[in-house]
Amino acid sequence: MTTTPQPKSDPAARQKVTTRSFALMKKRGQPITMLTAYDYPTALAVDQAGIDSILVGDSLGMVVLGYENTLPVTMEDMLHHCRAVARGAKFPLLVGDMPFMSYQTSVEKAVENAGRFLQEAGMDAIKLEGGRERADAVQAIVGAGIPVMGHIGLTPQSVHAFGGFRAQGKTASAAKRLIEDAHILQGAGAFSIVLEAVPAQLAQLISEQLAIPTIGIGAGVGCDGQVLVTHDLIGQFDRFTPSFVKQYAQIHEIVLQAMREYARDVEDRVFPAEEHSIFMKEQEWQELLAELNQESNG
Ligand code: KIV
Repeated sequence: MTTTPQPKSDPAARQKVTTRSFALMKKRGQPITMLTAYDYPTALAVDQAGIDSILVGDSLGMVVLGYENTLPVTMEDMLHHCRAVARGAKFPLLVGDMPFMSYQTSVEKAVENAGRFLQEAGMDAIKLEGGRERADAVQAIVGAGIPVMGHIGLTPQSVHAFGGFRAQGKTASAAKRLIEDAHILQGAGAFSIVLEAVPAQLAQLISEQLAIPTIGIGAGVGCDGQVLVTHDLIGQFDRFTPSFVKQYAQIHEIVLQAMREYARDVEDRVFPAEEHSIFMKEQEWQELLAELNQESNG
């Protein structure tokens, strides 16, 4: 027998999730749930499902805007979609993803752009990619009162440096470097770190060593929380599905089916039916016909 999973908490008793909640959940050993959203209806659904946090990821570039990778995404793209999400979500911690080149060129620019996510787009925190090379930016952003989520492992903005979307930290030396990066980001003040496409043993080790929660994506069950790109989870991105994704629905197929049925109904003149149409009162209609008749007769 299958049962529909219920939200884990009583909706009436829900409280806004904060970075402090993240810390408490890690302390209690309570897994943190996170999903991406880029628009109002998805944000509403993620919120109603009782998910702890929403990432407005720059994956937006691939799953919504149709780019090959995340590199073309701009600050304006991100802010536009963050605002839509902020209008739909009340309880989850909202994290805005800093796009490529919005934080890499100078610490000042990083702080300025990070601030825009909170000031102009209703986010509670920002995420940026990179380890030791971003420590100064993380420290400065945190110093400005803006919570920072780190992101190491497969960092998609470095797709060309990696030579493709490839798992990271698979050798002893690469793994050691990632462990060091995680500690550096924690030392710089990050409140949490995304570990993407790294070996499960390594992610578990990092999670055990850090005081701040790790959020895994393709990093095994040993992380303190999990994040997925919602379009992958619901089967709405048709180009490819990473091997670490569990697909819970096939929305693309459902949408396609509905659109094909609509096209058939229009072609067969079955839609719109009477109940989808607006009619004049008979008296008004007859009056109009009479007037038109009169006009054409004289
Ligand atoms: O942009 C994004 O959605 C992300 C997740 C894959 C963590 O960075």
